[in-house]
Amino acid sequence: MTVDHVDGEAMGSLVVTNIGELVTNDATLGEGMLGVLRDAAIVAENGRVAWVGPAARAPAADAALDAAGRAALPGFVDSHTHLVFAGDRGGEFATRMSGAPYTGGGIRTTVAATRAASDDELRETVGRLRREALRQGTTTIEIKSGYGLTVPHEVRSLRIAAEVSAETTFLGAHVVPPEYADRPDEYVSLVCGEMVTAAAPYARWVDVFCERGAFDEDQSRAVLSAGIAAGLMPRVHANQLGPGPGVRLAVEVQAASADHCTYLADADVDALAGSATVATLLPGAEFSTRSPYPNARRLLDAGVTVALATDCNPGSSYTTSMSFCLALAVRDMRMTPEEAVWAATAGGARALRRTDVGHLAVGSRADVVLLDAPSYLHLAYRPGVPLIHEVIQDGVLT
Ligand code: NIG
Ligand code: FE
Repeated sequence: MTVDHVDGEAMGSLVVTNIGELVTNDATLGEGMLGVLRDAAIVAENGRVAWVGPAARAPAADAALDAAGRAALPGFVDSHTHLVFAGDRGGEFATRMSGAPYTGGGIRTTVAATRAASDDELRETVGRLRREALRQGTTTIEIKSGYGLTVPHEVRSLRIAAEVSAETTFLGAHVVPPEYADRPDEYVSLVCGEMVTAAAPYARWVDVFCERGAFDEDQSRAVLSAGIAAGLMPRVHANQLGPGPGVRLAVEVQAASADHCTYLADADVDALAGSATVATLLPGAEFSTRSPYPNARRLLDAGVTVALATDCNPGSSYTTSMSFCLALAVRDMRMTPEEAVWAATAGGARALRRTDVGHLAVGSRADVVLLDAPSYLHLAYRPGVPLIHEVIQDGVLT
């Protein structure tokens, strides 16, 4: 049987044949850091990769998909998004493009809109953006809360996020909400007490916006410690808008990832290089806030593990496109195309401490993206072009 398109149906095993260039991210399977195989095939069974190798030796399967020489790679792993929100900040974007700076102050606008929205409105937005991301090749996505900032609103955001992803992050410490403006330490106590206890059953991660104007080092450490005590694993919004303690704090608490990393001191780079903490770079945010990009070369040359993610949110980066972020990383952050593809797949998996996604080898999840292009190079070489031909998630055509 040959499959043209079977939407979302499990169909036994599936062999994708005639792949011109397959990125496996497994150096034991193919060439270079991306483990590239030419004229390859891959077999999915029960959601996992059952076989990968030369097309000429591919075993038979229940269904076959002819890639017709196209390139294929692991599904993107977007390890940083804020999809649970209501409202629109297009006006704020336009103001910035006319010269206004980004300060993070608009977060409170989204908090007000999110609190006022119904569950179904939030669910509709999360579902729409999740589908939008999937169509663009994102098969694993992390989703944060952080626009509720009360116990019931943070819990609701996480419950809705958990309906579409296992990678949910409690970000009650996004900013101090207006009703606590003159007593921020009381808000931190709420986050570290009742809020984290109520949120923990719906989250895997705890995050904090450690930044001037949001939470300082001591407050951030308290939030992360409370999250860890509640069984969550830490990750940190660090050094986005200026230099600060966020990256070193992330390393101190053995966070899976320090995200943004735009303003780094040498000590920050050294701390990351000597740790298992991934530096997650979010060039969509610098693009949409017209800010300087993080220095990816400096991090990579120091031996830091780098991930790329979208930071999709209505304020600083309203994109679900990993291809767009990858192209920015290559063009404006001086990452090689290989480094950028690795960072958007295997790097994201490291940032989420996942060993089952971000690469394609026997036993990994069968999350495969087929490109309307002969090579992964085209992701950066043909920016803005819809190159995602087919997305296979858990062995199923989506
Ligand atoms: O990652 N830095 C904090 N949070 C988001 C921005 C959210 C917003 O502006 O609504 C970020 O860029
Ligand atoms: Fe963010």
